[in-house]
Amino acid sequence: MAMWGGRFGSGTDKDMQDFSESISFDKRLYKYDIQGSKAHAAMLAAQGIIPQTTAQKIIEGLEIVQKNIESGDFTFCAELEDIHMHIEKALTEAIGEDGARVHTARSRNDQVALDIRLYLRDEISLISNMIRDFQRAMLSQCEANPETIMPGFTHLQHAQPVLFAHHLLAYIEMFERDLGRLADCRKRLNLMPLGSGAIAGTTLPVNRETVCKLLNFDGITQNSMDAVADRDFAIELVAALAVFAMHVSRLSEDLILWCSQEFDFIEFDDAFTTGSSLMPQKKNPDVAELSRGKTARIYGDLTALLTLCKGLPLTYNRDLQEDKEPLFDAIDTVIKILKVYPPMIASMKIHPQRMLEAASDPSLMATDLADELVKLGMPFRTAHHRVGSLVKWCHDHGKGLNRLTLEEMRITIPEALDFFLELFDPAVSIAKREITGATGFKTVRSRIDYWLETLE
Ligand code: ARG
Repeated sequence: MAMWGGRFGSGTDKDMQDFSESISFDKRLYKYDIQGSKAHAAMLAAQGIIPQTTAQKIIEGLEIVQKNIESGDFTFCAELEDIHMHIEKALTEAIGEDGARVHTARSRNDQVALDIRLYLRDEISLISNMIRDFQRAMLSQCEANPETIMPGFTHLQHAQPVLFAHHLLAYIEMFERDLGRLADCRKRLNLMPLGSGAIAGTTLPVNRETVCKLLNFDGITQNSMDAVADRDFAIELVAALAVFAMHVSRLSEDLILWCSQEFDFIEFDDAFTTGSSLMPQKKNPDVAELSRGKTARIYGDLTALLTLCKGLPLTYNRDLQEDKEPLFDAIDTVIKILKVYPPMIASMKIHPQRMLEAASDPSLMATDLADELVKLGMPFRTAHHRVGSLVKWCHDHGKGLNRLTLEEMRITIPEALDFFLELFDPAVSIAKREITGATGFKTVRSRIDYWLETLE
């Protein structure tokens, strides 16, 4: 007979049990369920709701149950539905009748809300630390190649020369915002829901603040109906993970292009590539491709959670049990990505010569010439038009911008000065961009130094 079986005549159908169980996936919450029950029992005793000796037995019993689960000496079964009932049952088996007092003034509705919040606090700090390592791996490449020049792209067309480090630092900035979203999410989820009961709170004189302090929460939830129905924190976390995965996916796309034969800017270490079962010459960027692919399933997880909640009347509905698999999947997937990506980045080889060659097309510096005309007092639109005419002249005469004589340049730009002829060097172009946020050598160097200090 199930633990809630009092008003039931017969046991549940076997297929029904398999259909409704969550133990196969919520067993990962065991530690948090036990942690929450220990705090709850201590509070019940402090309030005189159960005897002190009973609370002590419950706490010791829960410790035995935890040991048994961790040593593999524990049987999970669909009949006991979920992790909460498994632990309560095992507790009662371990300490007898006193175990039946742990669920005083508590429902699985507020219990599961508590467990998920406790669990997510740990996962958020794990993932945040791993994202920090990712930033460090990116930074190690910046440090190794602080002055390497590559073409920057808009519309996937050569646009202007940039530093390779500047490109990588862009991702470090994105990851920093991702960390901010995770911290923000943690702040909002760090409220203690126990005491909400099934929906309406409890008639027993519990002290929610005590449990809050024991479990290190910032405060307690203020509406019992909201507290048992709320899954915003799960949605927020998966949304933050989806944005992070989107960033990784964009990085993947860059890297996949860069290691192609057409670009040939980078090469991955053998440890992070695979071959083709058919074409012996192939070396494929699977980590980047799979990360791009796995981003799709994280979006799926987010969509599942949003859709799960959108039609639910207050308060708890069993549908909410379906929150766990997408939530766990998004977390597991991000952790998998975070295990392989940083070492792949740290071990990749770069081809600075190839990057420089690609950035050396003089037309990438056309804007720099227009800027010089602006410095002489010409309106930018006019300067843009003049340089455009020069580019056309060069094209018609089969001559590179960097091969012009001053006389030739003056055909379309009478104002041209001697030093304009030297503008068509990517290093010159980069050296001129020393405003905050730009790709100048000094500016990028100081940003690298900033991150070195921050990521210390
Ligand atoms: N396994 C359930 C879940 O994950 C726990 C809460 C069940 N509550 C209930 N009244 N059946 O949502």
